[in-house]
Amino acid sequence: MPDPKSYYVTTPIYYVNDAPHIGHAYTTVAGDVLTRWHRQRGDQVWYLTGTDEHGTKVERAARDNGVEPQQWCDRLVETAWRPVLETIDAANDDFIRTTSDRHKRGVQRFWTAVKETGNVYEGEFTGPYCVGCEEFKRPGDLIEKPDGTRLCPVHDKPVEDISETNWFFRLSAFTERLLAHYEANPNAVAPASARNEVISFIKQGLDDISMSRSSVSWGVQLPWDSEQVVYVWFDALLNYLTAIGYGAREGTLEARRFDTTWPADVHLVGKDILRFHAVYWPAMLMAAGLPLPKQVFAHGWLLVGGEKMSKTKLTGIAPSRIVDHFGSDAFRYYFLRAIHFGQDGSFSWEDMSIRYTAELANGLGNLASRATAMVDRYRDGVLPEPVAYTNVDLALQDSLVAAVERADAAMDRLDFAGALEATKVFVDEVNGYVTEQQPWVLAKDQADIDRLSTVLYVMCESLRALAVLYNPFMPKSMNELWSRLGASDGLGEIAEQRIAATSRWGQLPPGSRVTKGDPLFPRLAEPTEDQAS
Ligand code: MSP
Repeated sequence: MPDPKSYYVTTPIYYVNDAPHIGHAYTTVAGDVLTRWHRQRGDQVWYLTGTDEHGTKVERAARDNGVEPQQWCDRLVETAWRPVLETIDAANDDFIRTTSDRHKRGVQRFWTAVKETGNVYEGEFTGPYCVGCEEFKRPGDLIEKPDGTRLCPVHDKPVEDISETNWFFRLSAFTERLLAHYEANPNAVAPASARNEVISFIKQGLDDISMSRSSVSWGVQLPWDSEQVVYVWFDALLNYLTAIGYGAREGTLEARRFDTTWPADVHLVGKDILRFHAVYWPAMLMAAGLPLPKQVFAHGWLLVGGEKMSKTKLTGIAPSRIVDHFGSDAFRYYFLRAIHFGQDGSFSWEDMSIRYTAELANGLGNLASRATAMVDRYRDGVLPEPVAYTNVDLALQDSLVAAVERADAAMDRLDFAGALEATKVFVDEVNGYVTEQQPWVLAKDQADIDRLSTVLYVMCESLRALAVLYNPFMPKSMNELWSRLGASDGLGEIAEQRIAATSRWGQLPPGSRVTKGDPLFPRLAEPTEDQAS
């Protein structure tokens, strides 16, 4: 039997001109939750992230700091970009750097192959370039100031006029094929607003585009012209191939990984880099005769004061500032819960505090505390066997079935907020059940001993299911909850639990050792002014 195809998810690779802010962490968290969910579906998964280290922007950052570009990249990757993965608890399978040999080799092989197809030719480029975007602009894309300066609308910074003899990629030749591809594959770009934007851009007609730079030296050398390097985007996009073994020696493990991993199932990107991923990238793959990614999903921006959060504009917040206060699980939960994936959203400490308290400390955390404390108190920490289910108990079991179905369907659409909402509805129902059933009253009367057993079991078994559903979002605290429920003895590791089996009632073995402990989501002091500012 051939190995199954991996469910392959990528983040953009991040520029190392500066340290990460929460906008970058947002994409990585989304990919991490998505891939953990798929692992719990039983899929083989490959999750890739990494760093984009070439180009003018990074080279200038290095020079401005008085170090060689390679040294600069090494330093930022080791002190900032790799550590942030730990801060946000990302479980990526690989980390690709564009300055690595495996990447450079793959880039050279790719462009050599495309040149042989006749889709690369020498020409003159004259026009504006935005170093922030690392993008050749069209005059119509720019903001004209009264004094004549032209600004990039994304970075609010003047563009630079360049004039070079470059190598061009024959993008125009792929216009019709791209349109046909998107016609035939309506989900290949999502959400719908992104798809419409891409299609109307292609319909305007595509111009050929420089694939190399002659005035830049920090990059991958063109194999056939040692005076030029590959244009940084046409180097960076190839990370999705080179990281999984494109360009590796045949017969090696790396080369075999390519066969079981490509094409990507989802490229997660911010909306600002949609065009690169949904127009240039598929055209490059078509030129090389390779299959196209199944989906490019464009998410929105984290905004500050209505504008994209960015280091350049000094509005970037380091993920550790939030994680130090709320913890990594709350960080992961909040951004996916509060902002509809695909739309822009604003971050505020107040809003995060409110949601944290209401949904995590009070909602889920309180349920977990109550259930474990009552089993501890009324049954010496041994999970009782349920005796007889009443209609209320059975209704709750039906609600769980509905919650799992809704959450799983939402995850298919990358609707993280929808999945969390469906799960939260169930948390609220279980909390309502506890309030109604009043186990603390049942505990006072010997005649209610059997009913109390059933109610305690229903609470813990509901939490068993909730731990599984929340685990991709909040792995640390759900792992803790799992062990407090005594679930690992009977059921194994939480990450091994399957989404499809979550609503099967009665999995937590009676007799399990339930332990109470500190709150999973402790109540927090209001963020200090210093944090909030
Ligand atoms: N290096 C390129 C990507 C190459 S992928 C082959 C790049 N890097 S970046 O560091 O500038 O941005 C990486 C990702 O972070 C992009 O998807 C971008 O949209 C995202 N974000 C940067 N600021 C953001 C916000 N304020 N909010 C949400 N995402 C943001 O582009």
